[in-house]
Amino acid sequence: MSDVAGPRSLACLNGEFAPPEETRVPIWDRGFLFGDSVYEVVRLYDGRCWLESAHLRRLEHSLAAVRITGVDLTQLMSRTRQTIEQSGVREGTVYIQITRGVAPRRHAFPAPGTPPTELIVVQPFDVRPTRLRQETGVGVVSRPDHRWKRCDIKSTNLLANVLAAQDAAEAECLEAVLFDARGYVTEATHSSVLWVRGGRIAATPEGPEILPGTTRHLARKLAERIGRSFVEEEVTLDELRTQTAEVMLVGTTIEVMPVVKLDGRPIRDGRPGPITRALQDAYAQALAEWLAAGPNAPDPWADFGVGMRRSSAHHDTSSASSASLTTAAS
Ligand SMILES: Cc1ncc(COP(=O)(O)O)c(C=O)c1O
Repeated sequence: MSDVAGPRSLACLNGEFAPPEETRVPIWDRGFLFGDSVYEVVRLYDGRCWLESAHLRRLEHSLAAVRITGVDLTQLMSRTRQTIEQSGVREGTVYIQITRGVAPRRHAFPAPGTPPTELIVVQPFDVRPTRLRQETGVGVVSRPDHRWKRCDIKSTNLLANVLAAQDAAEAECLEAVLFDARGYVTEATHSSVLWVRGGRIAATPEGPEILPGTTRHLARKLAERIGRSFVEEEVTLDELRTQTAEVMLVGTTIEVMPVVKLDGRPIRDGRPGPITRALQDAYAQALAEWLAAGPNAPDPWADFGVGMRRSSAHHDTSSASSASLTTAAS
């Protein structure tokens, strides 16, 4: 092994720093036993957390919705910064997972005061394969959406996503686009789906059927910059195939990714479309502006979560969770 210090993956479990492969979670952790946990993935550019406030808002939303309490988000972010710094990673990702803690196996919540488990992992990210795919565009498969009814919560219960993603991988595709029982597109297994119809950029309406994507939120802002309207509308899988001019995926690590093939058949001429290209350029420019503004500049995308709050409060039957969301919003 080389002893030259360079960027390396580093984990921080409940405040303890160690390489990820040496980090251990007890078998009674509820994240392991029940998937009783929520998570975030943040992209690091030049050692800084891109769209940080949006990710934090969504984490707050997820924690409140599943009633995990006792998480100090200020401390979490300070530990995140320490992990980034100690890792030396500049181009990377931060994985954050919070579980309901460690307790003897029983479905209902553990005794009050059981501390949540807090895991942060910083890893280098090799952007080159993504850059290549962003040039050529990618293929996707379609699969039925078998997930639960609260997909607005970023929970680690990802079995349905995993199975659909595996189908995509076996078909040598990047993603699986999911459709509901009525045949309408929801999102993809780990990214949001956007399309262009009638010159407008469109996405599935926010609600409990989809995760409120931080990149999708940014895309809404960037649509304005490139002179396009951004609308929320429903689209069937069949319409996605035949009535859209362009299809793209957006997400934290893939940024803006053209989709050129669906279930083995080309979309239009099988090449990335002009509006997707314009959105990619706008994304790159927004990122460059943010980096140039320096670490102390205000977050230009801090208004994330307005739509998320409205849709979730509307569908939420738990008064405790709604109350916490209101608090988080204030
Ligand atoms: C199901 C799902 N939808 C959408 C997204 C995109 O969200 P974001 O843009 O915040 O990465 C993700 C990200 O992991 C996801 O898992």
